[in-house]
Amino acid sequence: MTARSSIRYLRRGRVVELADVPPMRTVLDHLRLGQRARGTKEGCNEGDCGACTVAIGTLRNGRVVYEPVNACILLVGQLDGKELVTVDDLADEGALHPVQQALVEAHGSQCGFCTPGFVMSLFTLYHSGKPATRAEIATHIAGNLCRCTGYRPILDAAAASCTGIAADRWARGAAEAAAQLAALDDGADVFIGTHDSFIARPARAETLARLAAEHPDATIVSGATDVGLWITKQLRQLPKIILTGGVKALHGVSDEGGHVAIGAAATYAEAMPALAAIDPDVAEVLRRLGSTQVRASGTVGGNIANGSPIGDTPPMLIALGAKLHLRHGARTRSLPLEDFFIAYGKQDRKPGELVWRIDVPKLAASEVFRAYKISKRFDQDISAVMAAFRFTLDERRIASARIAFGGMAATPKRAAAAEAAIRGASLDDRATWQAAIAALAGDFQPISDMRASAAYRLEVAQRLLLKALMEIDGASATRVVGERKAVA
Ligand code: FES
Ligand code: FES
Repeated sequence: MTARSSIRYLRRGRVVELADVPPMRTVLDHLRLGQRARGTKEGCNEGDCGACTVAIGTLRNGRVVYEPVNACILLVGQLDGKELVTVDDLADEGALHPVQQALVEAHGSQCGFCTPGFVMSLFTLYHSGKPATRAEIATHIAGNLCRCTGYRPILDAAAASCTGIAADRWARGAAEAAAQLAALDDGADVFIGTHDSFIARPARAETLARLAAEHPDATIVSGATDVGLWITKQLRQLPKIILTGGVKALHGVSDEGGHVAIGAAATYAEAMPALAAIDPDVAEVLRRLGSTQVRASGTVGGNIANGSPIGDTPPMLIALGAKLHLRHGARTRSLPLEDFFIAYGKQDRKPGELVWRIDVPKLAASEVFRAYKISKRFDQDISAVMAAFRFTLDERRIASARIAFGGMAATPKRAAAAEAAIRGASLDDRATWQAAIAALAGDFQPISDMRASAAYRLEVAQRLLLKALMEIDGASATRVVGERKAVA
């Protein structure tokens, strides 16, 4: 079978088949309005609060892996081939699910509005296959906001129930669910609608590239963590939607020796192990990017393609020297990532052209890397400034540098003057650093907005360069990564 005009997903052990799917339909509306499954709540409707969290099961290496996602900014088309678990599905013949029971016993709910979302986030942690530390629990539920209970009882409930041993209906039915998902994976290109209004989820790379070229006015959607807000908050009309997530090859993340190759549809969660292995600072920034829900849906390719000046990954990837591969129909081309960002809202991408793959060089023995995200909140916040540095060292001298910032200009941008000024500087002579720190004022004329003033941005950028150099020269032992203060 090569084509299908329906979306199929698994819920409560049964296949749900939808032949009539409006392109912009979200999973939250589908559940609440279509399926009358109203346990899943609408809070912010923009992927920030986690009240709408559902679990998505994906078949990976023969087993079903559950991840939390925000149903409010997930499109129904993205459910194809997945298992959907909602809070309405958990109770087993009247008995609460272990995570629900633990929340009751720990007094983890007051008004209860956030509770279905917490339950589903904890459901996925319950199925993670390993016991979670308090810090891991805090990271896992950073995308679930509670305004009235306080987090300590919720953490207690998670610690009591998420022991790494799953014994619920999903654990007992794991083999059957895996077989059902395998049966749904028919390799068909999904197309629902007409030439003028459709949602498409191609399974083959060629179909995706051809459709995008034939419909240059279509909206290309990977994770929908950004496009979802165009729908729910900007009320835009997007009659043609092409989803990239059905093409398995685009989810590939591979170690190619000198670099890591990341397919454009790989989610942050999928790309994280390989990217995190490049440097602990990459891991730390990714851990603070969005939330667990956002990292399970959003993609590195999408973060690049939407060209935001405050995306978290582009400055790191530019500093590392990443190369971007694009595809238009059957033609491909590549360019240094920094050349992709032309001006605010303008990227070097033709209509119908797709971000296809990103090659991220690993660090050579002589190279050191630092990256810092500055935001008002530690978790799930948008950067005011994002800084990334790669220095090539010749003993104690800086032979060359790649320095890139987000939040400092209309695009993610290299600091050319600072890079030139730091060349030849000595790690043992701080006076030789000053020209580069001063040069940042020539590289950037940041703006003031609700996140930070222009003066703050410039000052923090200069301090971050100083911090990076101090960490590298060994004067500052502070390289705090992988730690968090959890509520005791
Ligand atoms: Fe707030 Fe979906 S309703 S994240
Ligand atoms: Fe009221 Fe969490 S229990 S918002």
